[in-house]
Amino acid sequence: MQPTSSTSITSPMKIPTRLLLLLMILFFMLSQATANGFNKSLELEAKALVATNWWPQHVNVSDDYCNWDEIGCNKAGSVISICFYNHNLEGYLGSLDFSSFPNLEWLNIDYCGVEGSIPEQIGLLSNLTELSLSGNQLTGKLPVSLANLTHLEGLDLGGNNFSGELPVALTNLTHLRYLYLDKNQLTGPIPPFGSMVTLTVLDLSTNQLNASIPNQIGNLQSLETLNLGDNNVDGPIPLSFGNLSHLRFLNLGMNFISGPIPIDIADLMNLQHVDLNNNSLVGTLHPKFGNLSYLDVSSNRLSGNVSFQYPCNLVQLDLSMNLFTGDIASLSSNCFGLKYLDISMNKLTGPIPHSVGSMVSLTVLDLSANQLNGSLPKELTNLQKLQTLNLGMNSISGQIPLDIASLMNIEHVDLSHNNLMGPVHPEFGKLTYLDFSSNKLSGNVLFQRNTCYLRYLNLSMNLMTGAITSLLDCNYLRSLDITNNSFVGEELNRTEFTELDILNQYPNNLTAIVPSQSSVQDRESGLSCNALSGQSPCKEHMQRKKLVQHLTTFIPIILGLCFLLLVYVCYKNHNATENKIQPETIKHGNVCSILNYDGTIAYEDFITATEDFDLRYCMGTGAYGSVYEAKLPDGKIFALKKLHRFEAEQPAFDQSFKNEVQVLTNLRHKNIVKLYGFCLHNKCNFLVYEYMEKGSLFCAISDSELAVQVDWMKRVNIIKDVAHALAYMHHDCNPPIVHRDISTNNILLNSKLEGFVADFGAARLLDPDSSNQTVIVGTLGYIAPELAYNMIVTEKCDVYSFGVVALETIGGKHPGDLLSSLNYSTSRGTTLENILDKRLPYPTDSSIEKEIMRVYNVAVACILTDPKCRPTMRNVSRELSC
Ligand SMILES: *[C@@H]1O[C@H](CO)[C@@H](O)[C@H](O)[C@H]1NC(C)=O
Ligand SMILES: *[C@@H]1O[C@H](CO)[C@@H](O)[C@H](O)[C@H]1NC(C)=O
Ligand SMILES: *[C@@H]1O[C@H](CO)[C@@H](O)[C@H](O)[C@H]1NC(C)=O
Ligand SMILES: *[C@@H]1O[C@H](CO)[C@@H](O)[C@H](O)[C@H]1NC(C)=O
Ligand SMILES: *[C@@H]1O[C@H](CO)[C@@H](O)[C@H](O)[C@H]1NC(C)=O
Ligand SMILES: *[C@@H]1O[C@H](CO)[C@@H](O)[C@H](O)[C@H]1NC(C)=O
Ligand SMILES: *[C@@H]1O[C@H](CO)[C@@H](O)[C@H](O)[C@H]1NC(C)=O
Ligand SMILES: *[C@@H]1O[C@H](CO)[C@@H](O)[C@H](O)[C@H]1NC(C)=O
Ligand SMILES: *[C@@H]1O[C@H](CO)[C@@H](O)[C@H](O)[C@H]1NC(C)=O
Ligand SMILES: *[C@@H]1O[C@H](CO)[C@@H](O)[C@H](O)[C@H]1NC(C)=O
Repeated sequence: MQPTSSTSITSPMKIPTRLLLLLMILFFMLSQATANGFNKSLELEAKALVATNWWPQHVNVSDDYCNWDEIGCNKAGSVISICFYNHNLEGYLGSLDFSSFPNLEWLNIDYCGVEGSIPEQIGLLSNLTELSLSGNQLTGKLPVSLANLTHLEGLDLGGNNFSGELPVALTNLTHLRYLYLDKNQLTGPIPPFGSMVTLTVLDLSTNQLNASIPNQIGNLQSLETLNLGDNNVDGPIPLSFGNLSHLRFLNLGMNFISGPIPIDIADLMNLQHVDLNNNSLVGTLHPKFGNLSYLDVSSNRLSGNVSFQYPCNLVQLDLSMNLFTGDIASLSSNCFGLKYLDISMNKLTGPIPHSVGSMVSLTVLDLSANQLNGSLPKELTNLQKLQTLNLGMNSISGQIPLDIASLMNIEHVDLSHNNLMGPVHPEFGKLTYLDFSSNKLSGNVLFQRNTCYLRYLNLSMNLMTGAITSLLDCNYLRSLDITNNSFVGEELNRTEFTELDILNQYPNNLTAIVPSQSSVQDRESGLSCNALSGQSPCKEHMQRKKLVQHLTTFIPIILGLCFLLLVYVCYKNHNATENKIQPETIKHGNVCSILNYDGTIAYEDFITATEDFDLRYCMGTGAYGSVYEAKLPDGKIFALKKLHRFEAEQPAFDQSFKNEVQVLTNLRHKNIVKLYGFCLHNKCNFLVYEYMEKGSLFCAISDSELAVQVDWMKRVNIIKDVAHALAYMHHDCNPPIVHRDISTNNILLNSKLEGFVADFGAARLLDPDSSNQTVIVGTLGYIAPELAYNMIVTEKCDVYSFGVVALETIGGKHPGDLLSSLNYSTSRGTTLENILDKRLPYPTDSSIEKEIMRVYNVAVACILTDPKCRPTMRNVSRELSC
């Protein structure tokens, strides 16, 4: 029913922060381990590795394997870690002689095409703390000897083909912090994991486990993520779940779970994401579930009213395919933050309340297949972010408000099977999907040339009349259904539509096309007109698309800001007065603090230089404000980032502003844009930045003139600049700083076309002790996939965005769909011609060609779906600078 729920089940769910830190520390230690001399007595270990065929045969066993990238040794030269990801190993795990590695602490062979089963011998690795063999083709049962690995803290065997039952002995692994066995063929019961009190992640999703959930799971006091989705689990949800006080993410979707949803779950303080879709749950939904940010209970047998208490934190709510009754008045007057709302296929009654207009964040509203009546409230037009509106299959009457067509982001409207009357306004042509079928609509269709972008149009079963020639202006139509109306005139000649796959136009009162003199002429003039205006629809379409892209770029950011607003409201309610940034500055209300600048500048100087922020000095408008160019009397130029007046009065924006000041004042790096100061003034807040002559990387590579100036070497260097800056933020700052919104828009270029990381409005200090969970911020197309469902911010999110930026920089455009198809093995055979920006001549210098290839290979590793497998920025920066 609902796309996001299935992704949260099928995508790999990984990476507790602490593990990440551990990995980083490990990497750090490995890199510090300087060339230990080769110890003859350890030759055995090396031989064991080569024997697996996992190393090329030409590797000389007596080479110092401790210096191999994949091997880490202790001071004595004994192997303590083996790490591969995304290598093509094609060996059998059984051919690795585990007895040769008595000191091994870390074995990581992910996504390497390794086959066979895990040998019992694995129990010999008694010092192992991390065992990760995910994404291979391993089969067979899980060996009981895994339980001998009592030091194990992390076990990840997800995405293989393991079968049989889960060994109960696994419950002896009492130090385990995460356990991933997702996406296998495991059957039987879930062991009573209750003794594993350190476990934070338990993911058994997408298997064939087929018993009820053991009550003991409620004893896992550290558990933060519990995913049993997509199994054959039955029985009730244990009441003991109410004891999982650290739980943030719960997925029991796609099982056969029955009974009511325990109310205690709604009281769990940290719980944010609950997915119970496709089960047999009954009873009502407690109003306290409004505390969650994500709730999917679709396809159950839940009943009662839909109501959530204030404050309601829901962002995404799917109640579709249940037996809910009543109206949505309580929902719409309490849940302002909702972005996605689906209550389709229930038994809702009454009219759509006027308060629907307060859910201003909505992008999807689906109330189809209920028993709603009344007319469409005009407040629907407050929903400026709405992209999809589905109210089909109800008993809604009255006219279709014209203003729905003028919503900024609207693309998809389904009002079919209602009692709507009146005309179809030509403005609806700007949408891409329109289903108004089975209503009582009348009048003609009069879409206008150059403003009709419809791909799907269904007007069947209405009372519409008149000629249908205006449909010929809808050049993008793929499916058109106008059956069962009273249209008159000539039928449509389908050969005049270039993209049309489906055309239903009978019965109407249409006459067959008679190729008479006059109609031929009509068509000809129509064609010639088309040819004349042939360029403009495309151009307009492009512009519109760009606008839409631009807007979608800001949606996540705006959502983030809404969250901040919410945080602020709570914060105010608690009467907290803590203020990290210079409270006295705010008190006086007119103080400018200029850092790192040898000269005295006052607030007034900037006001004079920009003529009180006159539009003429505006260089661009971003998510948090506009950037102005300020040339001071002494000739120095600065960039001023100023919050829009309206927003400056909103505490949430203030927050992001302070955030940026706080982060930037602590950063000192050549490739991070310099913050010279800031002004906190009661009416006007601004930041004073280093001036960047060439604007953003995005503009540089979008502009066909500038794109040629930014030649291959410059592009490679910009990518290196960004890598160095991020490595500094992640590894040299304590606590590490995650930017969270790396995109080509936020990389600025100076006059020498050097790259600088900017826009820290979304940045976050990574607190190693907190869960780092957050609302998604960032720019669509650059956000790491795992953020969509676990909302845990790690450095690896920036690594992903960096990979996208690098690909975009060498390719000249956003990689788009390529992102999901690229991986280590497909990238091996790629030739540069297919990747590179065609506007630049192919690099003639082979050393440049090599550099670009290296950037490409690193970028591909950075966008791996599994965050754990992405390299760290330190490794990237190092790899790119050698
Ligand atoms: C080699 O390792 C063994 C055992 O770890 C140790 O006793 C021996 O001194 C080492 N030899 C050298 C040359 O480091
Ligand atoms: C391997 O290394 C040893 C000692 O360094 C050397 O004698 C031998 O020739 C090398 N073998 C190959 C195939 O390079
Ligand atoms: C395991 O680690 C301990 C110390 O952490 C060490 O003393 C021991 O030798 C290692 N190896 C084995 C096989 O236990
Ligand atoms: C695992 O431990 C049990 C007893 O604790 C022992 O009998 C068995 O040999 C061990 N297995 C391996 C592979 O080490
Ligand atoms: C697990 O622990 C129990 C007792 O705590 C013990 O009887 C059993 O042998 C252990 N299993 C393994 C495989 O070590
Ligand atoms: C997984 O194992 C089953 C049988 O247990 C087999 O039919 C299937 O082809 C295997 N899948 C893969 C991807 O190896
Ligand atoms: C679970 O599935 C296994 C294998 O399909 C079957 O043998 C077993 O009887 C099932 N157990 C239950 C409780 O349904
Ligand atoms: C929750 O934990 C408390 C204390 O550990 C225990 O007394 C209670 O029975 C538990 N509740 C359930 C439903 O298991
Ligand atoms: C439909 O239009 C095409 C091209 O405009 C024309 O060749 C064809 O004869 C028309 N068909 C009829 C039935 O008029
Ligand atoms: C169909 O159109 C013809 C002429 O355009 C008109 O005479 C006739 O009444 C129409 N029939 C219906 C059912 O509308």
